[in-house]
Amino acid sequence: MALRNIRLIGDEILYKKTKPVVEMTDKLKQLIEDMFETMYHGDGVGLAASQVGILKQVVVIDVSEEANQPIILINPEIIHTEGEQDGTEACMSVPGKIGYVKRPNLVRVKALDENMEPIEVEGEELLARALIHEIEHLAGELYVDKVEGKLYDTTELKDE
Ligand code: NI
Repeated sequence: MALRNIRLIGDEILYKKTKPVVEMTDKLKQLIEDMFETMYHGDGVGLAASQVGILKQVVVIDVSEEANQPIILINPEIIHTEGEQDGTEACMSVPGKIGYVKRPNLVRVKALDENMEPIEVEGEELLARALIHEIEHLAGELYVDKVEGKLYDTTELKDE
Protein backbone atom coordinates (compact mmCIF):
# COMPACT_ATOMS: atom_id res chain seq x y z
CA MET A 1 0.00 0.00 0.00
CA ALA A 2 1.13 3.49 -0.70
CA LEU A 3 -0.18 6.99 -0.53
CA ARG A 4 -0.83 8.53 -3.94
CA ASN A 5 -0.39 12.17 -4.82
CA ILE A 6 -3.68 14.01 -4.96
CA ARG A 7 -4.17 16.18 -8.02
CA LEU A 8 -5.37 19.65 -7.10
CA ILE A 9 -7.89 22.00 -8.67
CA GLY A 10 -6.36 23.58 -11.77
CA ASP A 11 -4.61 20.32 -12.76
CA GLU A 12 -5.97 19.54 -16.23
CA ILE A 13 -6.34 15.82 -15.51
CA LEU A 14 -9.26 16.61 -13.17
CA TYR A 15 -11.27 17.99 -16.10
CA LYS A 16 -10.79 14.97 -18.37
CA LYS A 17 -13.31 12.19 -18.88
CA THR A 18 -12.23 8.80 -17.57
CA LYS A 19 -12.37 5.49 -19.46
CA PRO A 20 -14.30 2.39 -18.40
CA VAL A 21 -12.35 -0.48 -16.90
CA VAL A 22 -12.46 -3.55 -19.17
CA GLU A 23 -10.64 -6.03 -16.95
CA MET A 24 -9.44 -6.18 -13.36
CA THR A 25 -5.68 -6.36 -13.13
CA ASP A 26 -3.15 -6.52 -10.28
CA LYS A 27 -2.26 -2.95 -11.10
CA LEU A 28 -5.86 -1.83 -10.67
CA LYS A 29 -6.20 -3.78 -7.41
CA GLN A 30 -3.13 -1.95 -6.16
CA LEU A 31 -4.66 1.34 -7.31
CA ILE A 32 -7.85 0.60 -5.34
CA GLU A 33 -5.86 -0.24 -2.18
CA ASP A 34 -3.78 2.90 -2.55
CA MET A 35 -6.88 5.02 -3.14
CA PHE A 36 -8.42 3.78 0.12
CA GLU A 37 -5.20 4.45 2.00
CA THR A 38 -4.94 7.93 0.49
CA MET A 39 -8.60 8.71 1.23
CA TYR A 40 -8.45 7.52 4.85
CA HIS A 41 -5.14 9.30 5.38
CA GLY A 42 -6.68 12.59 4.25
CA ASP A 43 -9.93 12.05 6.21
CA GLY A 44 -11.89 11.98 2.96
CA VAL A 45 -15.12 10.05 2.37
CA GLY A 46 -14.60 9.41 -1.33
CA LEU A 47 -11.94 9.45 -4.02
CA ALA A 48 -12.03 9.04 -7.79
CA ALA A 49 -9.09 7.61 -9.76
CA SER A 50 -8.66 10.84 -11.74
CA GLN A 51 -7.80 12.57 -8.46
CA VAL A 52 -4.67 10.44 -8.28
CA GLY A 53 -3.93 10.94 -11.97
CA ILE A 54 -5.47 7.75 -13.39
CA LEU A 55 -8.15 8.29 -16.05
CA LYS A 56 -10.12 5.14 -15.27
CA GLN A 57 -13.64 4.73 -13.92
CA VAL A 58 -12.73 3.70 -10.41
CA VAL A 59 -14.22 5.20 -7.24
CA VAL A 60 -13.74 4.40 -3.57
CA ILE A 61 -16.11 5.64 -0.87
CA ASP A 62 -16.47 5.19 2.87
CA VAL A 63 -18.84 7.51 4.71
CA SER A 64 -18.92 5.47 7.94
CA GLU A 65 -17.60 7.06 11.15
CA GLU A 66 -15.33 4.11 11.89
CA ALA A 67 -14.00 4.01 8.31
CA ASN A 68 -14.96 0.34 8.06
CA GLN A 69 -17.57 0.30 5.28
CA PRO A 70 -15.52 0.57 2.11
CA ILE A 71 -17.38 0.75 -1.20
CA ILE A 72 -15.62 0.08 -4.50
CA LEU A 73 -17.31 1.20 -7.70
CA ILE A 74 -15.99 0.27 -11.13
CA ASN A 75 -17.67 1.94 -14.13
CA PRO A 76 -20.45 3.42 -11.96
CA GLU A 77 -23.61 4.91 -13.45
CA ILE A 78 -26.41 6.72 -11.69
CA ILE A 79 -29.68 4.94 -12.44
CA HIS A 80 -32.08 6.70 -10.09
CA THR A 81 -32.29 9.81 -7.93
CA GLU A 82 -34.96 11.07 -5.56
CA GLY A 83 -35.63 14.14 -3.50
CA GLU A 84 -33.27 16.92 -2.64
CA GLN A 85 -30.82 17.83 0.09
CA ASP A 86 -29.02 21.03 0.99
CA GLY A 87 -25.67 20.78 2.62
CA THR A 88 -21.99 21.42 2.40
CA GLU A 89 -19.51 19.62 0.28
CA ALA A 90 -15.75 19.47 0.11
CA CYS A 91 -13.18 17.67 -2.02
CA MET A 92 -9.67 16.36 -1.45
CA SER A 93 -8.63 18.08 -4.69
CA VAL A 94 -9.82 21.43 -3.33
CA PRO A 95 -8.15 21.54 0.09
CA GLY A 96 -9.28 24.03 2.70
CA LYS A 97 -12.52 24.88 0.89
CA ILE A 98 -16.17 24.06 1.43
CA GLY A 99 -19.41 25.09 -0.27
CA TYR A 100 -23.14 24.54 -0.39
CA VAL A 101 -24.37 22.22 -3.15
CA LYS A 102 -27.94 21.01 -3.71
CA ARG A 103 -28.00 17.27 -4.37
CA PRO A 104 -30.62 14.53 -4.63
CA ASN A 105 -31.35 12.99 -1.23
CA LEU A 106 -31.26 9.46 -2.60
CA VAL A 107 -28.99 8.11 -5.32
CA ARG A 108 -28.94 4.60 -6.78
CA VAL A 109 -25.92 3.48 -8.77
CA LYS A 110 -25.11 0.44 -10.82
CA ALA A 111 -21.48 -0.53 -11.12
CA LEU A 112 -19.09 -3.45 -11.03
CA ASP A 113 -17.31 -4.55 -7.87
CA GLU A 114 -13.59 -5.38 -7.58
CA ASN A 115 -14.31 -8.80 -9.14
CA MET A 116 -16.08 -7.14 -12.09
CA GLU A 117 -19.42 -8.49 -10.85
CA PRO A 118 -22.48 -6.24 -11.25
CA ILE A 119 -23.67 -4.49 -8.08
CA GLU A 120 -26.15 -1.82 -7.12
CA VAL A 121 -25.52 0.67 -4.34
CA GLU A 122 -28.17 2.97 -2.95
CA GLY A 123 -27.44 5.80 -0.58
CA GLU A 124 -29.20 8.64 1.16
CA GLU A 125 -27.88 11.89 2.54
CA LEU A 126 -24.08 11.81 2.87
CA LEU A 127 -23.70 8.59 0.87
CA ALA A 128 -25.94 9.98 -1.90
CA ARG A 129 -23.80 13.10 -1.95
CA ALA A 130 -20.57 11.10 -2.08
CA LEU A 131 -21.85 8.85 -4.87
CA ILE A 132 -22.82 11.76 -7.09
CA HIS A 133 -19.70 13.81 -6.27
CA GLU A 134 -17.33 10.96 -7.14
CA ILE A 135 -19.19 9.95 -10.29
CA GLU A 136 -18.99 13.56 -11.45
CA HIS A 137 -15.21 13.39 -10.99
CA LEU A 138 -15.18 10.54 -13.53
CA ALA A 139 -16.88 12.88 -16.00
CA GLY A 140 -14.26 15.58 -15.39
CA GLU A 141 -16.50 17.74 -13.21
CA LEU A 142 -15.72 19.40 -9.90
CA TYR A 143 -18.27 20.38 -7.24
CA VAL A 144 -16.93 23.93 -7.13
CA ASP A 145 -18.80 24.65 -10.38
CA LYS A 146 -22.10 23.70 -8.69
CA VAL A 147 -21.67 25.64 -5.47
CA GLU A 148 -24.47 27.97 -4.47
CA GLY A 149 -23.10 31.29 -3.38
CA LYS A 150 -19.43 31.39 -2.64
CA LEU A 151 -16.80 28.82 -1.86
CA TYR A 152 -15.85 29.22 1.81
CA ASP A 153 -12.59 28.59 3.59
CA THR A 154 -13.03 25.69 6.02
CA THR A 155 -12.01 28.12 8.77
CA GLU A 156 -15.12 30.21 7.97
CA LEU A 157 -17.59 27.34 7.76
CA LYS A 158 -17.43 23.98 9.44
CA ASP A 159 -18.46 20.85 7.54
CA GLU A 160 -21.85 19.67 8.83
NI1 NI B 1 -13.90 15.35 -4.87
